[in-house]
Amino acid sequence: MTVDRIMKAILCTRYCTPDQLELADIEEPRAGPGEAVVRVKAAALNFFDTLIIAGKYQHKPPFPFSPAAEFAGTVDTIGTGVTGIAPGDRVMGNIGWGAAREAVAVPAQQLVKVPDQLGFDRAAGLTVTYGTTLYALRERAELKSGETLAVLGAAGGTGLAAIEIGKIMGARVIACASSDDKLAFARDHGADATVNYASEDLRDALKKLGGEHGIDVVYDPVGGRYAEPAVRALAWEGRYLVVGFAAGEIPKLPLNLVLLKSCDIRGVLWGTWVKREPRAQHALMKDIVQWCADGRLSAHVQAVYPLAEIATALNAIADRKVMGKIVLRP
Ligand SMILES: NC(=O)c1ccc[n+]([C@@H]2O[C@H](COP(=O)([O-])OP(=O)(O)OC[C@H]3O[C@@H](n4cnc5c(N)ncnc54)[C@H](OP(=O)(O)O)[C@@H]3O)[C@@H](O)[C@H]2O)c1
Repeated sequence: MTVDRIMKAILCTRYCTPDQLELADIEEPRAGPGEAVVRVKAAALNFFDTLIIAGKYQHKPPFPFSPAAEFAGTVDTIGTGVTGIAPGDRVMGNIGWGAAREAVAVPAQQLVKVPDQLGFDRAAGLTVTYGTTLYALRERAELKSGETLAVLGAAGGTGLAAIEIGKIMGARVIACASSDDKLAFARDHGADATVNYASEDLRDALKKLGGEHGIDVVYDPVGGRYAEPAVRALAWEGRYLVVGFAAGEIPKLPLNLVLLKSCDIRGVLWGTWVKREPRAQHALMKDIVQWCADGRLSAHVQAVYPLAEIATALNAIADRKVMGKIVLRP
């Protein structure tokens, strides 16, 4: 008789605050057909993990579930029919939720190999923020070299990715954030100009920096009161990307602004695009992993916590204290 192995996992057993999450012992998963079991070396957190445990996110997994969408680790075992991945391989991936535990079973096709020169902590946080952002800037905004890109929430996970990918794509990047420390961090990661939207009027500052032409693309993962001033600073035929609503409030915009500039409001729903276009997503991740391995993307990790300290990690995200990513190490 085989005895199930036990592992540590963070469990959300009811909608709750970060402090009410539980550290529990549960059975380790087994690899089903087409699956690989990955030993998680690092699981990266995102802003949406603060929402998913509170029942305020678009996905509502059945209880009990673990938060943390993305991870990096080594393949432990593989199920029948798996090709291209073998035990011992270093891999990373995104499963939506469930990675805050010592091992996960994942469809092997969704895994991406991690080059030797890329550590697990940085690899863990590459998929969601950089994947979303490359999809947003390349596929949705069609950002061109020489255009001006304004990034809101620029020191956050997606914001940092937008600065770095914007620079790789040849844009002039204006980073917008709520503190001078965050703006210094944005400059260190490539921003050409900055706006402190806690102390400056966002529309006026962007209009000044955009000059007569205006801002070609706005990347907005924040929403709330910043959305309308950012749209007002757009150029003729500019593009405003709706990425997220970290500020909590979903903005409403007067549509005459869109008409007057012949501009576009473009939605970005990366998770669904990944399901609809898995091949395109694989190609996109290849670029991201290569750029990161070459040192062109920082995948900056601000702090690493053990699983048991997930509440501290999630509270730091909710309190706007994080620059780049926070990682859990099981
Ligand atoms: N559309 C997609 O496919 C997709 C994919 C991934 C993430 N998202 C969404 O994008 C948003 C940002 O995600 P992220 O991982 O980049 O988050 P993050 O690292 O926490 O950064 C969000 C930024 O928003 C700003 N912010 C303003 N008001 C805030 C508030 N009340 N609470 C927290 N932050 C606030 C903060 O910057 P300042 O302090 O400088 O204002 C913070 O740095 C989330 O809503 C997430 O769900 C969407």
